[in-house]
Amino acid sequence: MTIAVCMGSSCHVKGAKTIIELLKEKIKANNLEDKVILTGTICLGQCASGGANMKIDDEIVTGITRENFDNFFAEKVLTKLK
Ligand code: FES
Repeated sequence: MTIAVCMGSSCHVKGAKTIIELLKEKIKANNLEDKVILTGTICLGQCASGGANMKIDDEIVTGITRENFDNFFAEKVLTKLK
């Protein structure tokens, strides 16, 4: 699985950096280092969403915040890798 977090300015303002840190922590805590490639991408054209945006394989996922991060990770990452 490849997770490409948007590095555009709008997502940066909405906390993309924090989301990357949370992703790193969760990937490590779940021993997924060999299953997930974490990378960055240019603007995904979803700047109006309420949080950081990313592309997980071919799916664009929008509006990730510190508050909804745990649910997002369980639903979009863990369930797909187990
Ligand atoms: S800056 Fe992230 S979707 Fe545009």
